[in-house]
Amino acid sequence: MKHISIMVFSPFGNTLKVGKYIQKALTESNQHCEIINLTGKSWNQISSFDYSMIEKNDLIVIGTPVYAWKIIEPIKIFIENLPSNENYRIAFFTTYGLITGYTLFQGVNLLEKKGYKVLSCLKVAARHSMIFNEEEDPYNYRPNQQDIEIIQIFSELITKTLNSFPNRTLSLEKLDYHSWKVKYLYKFLIKRFGMALLPKIYFNSKKCIQCGKCIEACPIQIIKLDPYPKKFGKCIKCYNCMWTCPQKAVYSRTFKLFEFFHRILGKYYHEIPETKIYQ
Ligand SMILES: Cc1cc2nc3c(=O)[nH]c(=O)nc-3n(C[C@H](O)[C@H](O)[C@H](O)COP(=O)(O)O)c2cc1C
Repeated sequence: MKHISIMVFSPFGNTLKVGKYIQKALTESNQHCEIINLTGKSWNQISSFDYSMIEKNDLIVIGTPVYAWKIIEPIKIFIENLPSNENYRIAFFTTYGLITGYTLFQGVNLLEKKGYKVLSCLKVAARHSMIFNEEEDPYNYRPNQQDIEIIQIFSELITKTLNSFPNRTLSLEKLDYHSWKVKYLYKFLIKRFGMALLPKIYFNSKKCIQCGKCIEACPIQIIKLDPYPKKFGKCIKCYNCMWTCPQKAVYSRTFKLFEFFHRILGKYYHEIPETKIYQ
């Protein structure tokens, strides 16, 4: 029996859902598998994560949503702080709602630089957690049954590789799958400014009834009442506080404009909405 931990950060729940499918498949094949959910932990708690909890594991599965074509910041910090160790085996996955960009490449690159052996990667088509009002969006009802079957194959594959070829590592070349037009947009715009271009969140104290729902919804615990909600720390821009507020007191001035640009960008820069294994 192998000991496996699945680490996720999942503001909207897609990545956690995929983590649970992987856990189910691994448990059914008699592996000991636990989920460590970093969602809801503060920046401080993530930076001071106790890595001794996972050092004896045979495999660590890491799951991240795509944010502006990259790994979400808390998972990036988790990976950057992982102690270097040539014996660690990793499987890496992402959930995405339009284009994975350099998420898989970035994650595997960071991990391999630390000496980790990345056995396999997976991208899972999922509902977009920012723009999700369009019924015709091909990602809207994902992951579907077919996606779940691929997630199960991925789970079987990582245990097989762990048993038979524990020293194999995924080639980075396989994850550099984008066309030149994606590469250039990433290099000159999204890599540096992607997150900064996303709309900012504001609080309207006149509409606020201090119910605290935005505080509960924040997956990185940066909102506090002072006496009205205020951000204390770096916002990951998941917009959970905005969707949750019953008074519409949490708002963004540029969200509609961003939605418009996002739709145009989506037309030219989308991926085939597929769930795919890289090994
Ligand atoms: C701020 C923000 C940025 C996002 N950027 C991207 C992106 O660049 N590409 C993409 O395919 N999906 C993007 N998404 C969609 C999420 O990656 C996708 O819905 C993911 O499954 C959400 O995972 P979660 O449910 O675990 O939070 C973004 C979502 C948010 C909120």
